[in-house]
Amino acid sequence: MLPGEGVNDYVRYMRTDELLDLQRTADQWVHPDELLFQITHQSTELWLKLAGAQLDRAAEHVAAGETGLAELLVQRAATALRLITEQLDMLRHLTPADFNRIRPALGNGSGAESPGWQGLRKAARRLGREFDARLEADGADLRSLYLGDPTTALYRLAESLVALDERIALWRTEHYKIATRIIGHAVLGTQGTPVDTLARLIAQKLFPKLWQIRTEITKGYGS
Ligand code: HEM
Repeated sequence: MLPGEGVNDYVRYMRTDELLDLQRTADQWVHPDELLFQITHQSTELWLKLAGAQLDRAAEHVAAGETGLAELLVQRAATALRLITEQLDMLRHLTPADFNRIRPALGNGSGAESPGWQGLRKAARRLGREFDARLEADGADLRSLYLGDPTTALYRLAESLVALDERIALWRTEHYKIATRIIGHAVLGTQGTPVDTLARLIAQKLFPKLWQIRTEITKGYGS
């Protein structure tokens, strides 16, 4: 048996006792759907932790000139974002009335304070800086990259960053639709943010220059 607490090696290695003890219990619930609500958020935090860690590793690989490895790690982060987008669907089982019963239990807590979300964005910004430095070190710029061979490692990495940005926008779209489905429009979130500002965030970009270059190319063709 592995060292530590737990009835078998699976329980010890996966630390399932601690993990399954992280949800409020029936005697603490204001409503049984707290379990659905907490598990949706907690599992999102885990995937976001993984995504952020992949982007940190990717940034290190870009700095070391290992662009292909970085691309694979960015793809993993994008997969994690797809998974957390899909699991938002679980919240469609939560009625507006039941969520409003649960809401006081959250205090001022909001997903906007999510450590996983903040960690992901921090790691992505670091990766963006490393990407810019790599481009410069290669004596290239975005224009030459995007008018050049799309099969080069740096072009592929740039496209994986674009895919990641798209995944974030898709998560934000789904999150906005679900938030308004549950609490409606023209109301405030637990952080006091008007819910409809979530729609504006969909257009926010982590790698704006990779989108701007597309605009410039299109305009260069006279559109
Ligand atoms: C009942 C379901 C949900 C509702 C009604 C809701 C509502 C909101 C609202 C109104 C905001 C704006 C800030 C505020 O005032 O709170 C927000 C932000 C946010 N929420 Fe949720 N949310 C829900 C589920 C989730 C889930 C499952 C997650 C996953 C961790 C999450 C993560 C976030 C994040 C990351 C932000 C910042 C938004 C951004 O940067 O685009 N939310 N949410």
